[in-house]
Amino acid sequence: MKKIKINKILKQKGVSPIVCLTAYSKSTAEVADKYCDIILVGDSLAMVLYGMKTTKEIKLETMMLHCKTVKRFAKKSLVVFDMPYKTYTSKKLAYKNATKVMSFTKCDAIKLEGGKNIFGIAKYLVSKGIPVMGHIGLLPQTANKFKVTGKNNFQKRKILEDAIAISKAGAFSIVLECVVENLANIITKTIPIPTIGIGASKKCDGQILVIDDMLGLSGFYPKFVKKYSDLKGIMDKSIKNYVKDVKERKFPFIKNVYN
Ligand code: KIV
Repeated sequence: MKKIKINKILKQKGVSPIVCLTAYSKSTAEVADKYCDIILVGDSLAMVLYGMKTTKEIKLETMMLHCKTVKRFAKKSLVVFDMPYKTYTSKKLAYKNATKVMSFTKCDAIKLEGGKNIFGIAKYLVSKGIPVMGHIGLLPQTANKFKVTGKNNFQKRKILEDAIAISKAGAFSIVLECVVENLANIITKTIPIPTIGIGASKKCDGQILVIDDMLGLSGFYPKFVKKYSDLKGIMDKSIKNYVKDVKERKFPFIKNVYN
């Protein structure tokens, strides 16, 4: 099992789709690592694991613990840490936090949300040797509403400019979140680095989903999510059966008992 490096991700552009998933724990990291190129320890964990209302509430230190575990068990994939809200508002703060994250978690890269507004910060981190993944389109850390972006010409121009800025800052890839298909296509053809879509069509160089959504754990199924499993349903049945067995004095069974 060869460790995936940033160079390999760059070479996949236009050649072979880049497969990404989020993961936050030992078990999800172990399975995702078998099949994915990139594992993102996303700040989506605020909502899907901790039940917070927005991603703004999660603390850097909480995410660092999850990322350290993911990195220990994801031996092959490129592990990316999603810098939480307000942890990269200046070059100095971004560098301080990114170095803290990288030395504690041993992750391979960090992700920042934003476009032209964070060009200087992204460029600075890259100049200091910190690999950066961008994130444009819908930005959950700052958006008032979660809706599709790039529908009108003003948004289209802005998002394309954001993509070009982040690419010029030296990022190695960019997440396009909830971006209309024709804009995703233009961005993918314009910039030299891979685009990773979530709700941004097949025109991107790769895809990412939040693991709890695609496994059917989160209860959040917008149009862009395919529910590949119904883990919540499986959990429901399993727990119901366990409770029934205990109440009927069937469990523990003979094979579960020490003599
Ligand atoms: O936090 C996250 O999981 C993300 C993905 C949706 C790209 O940023």
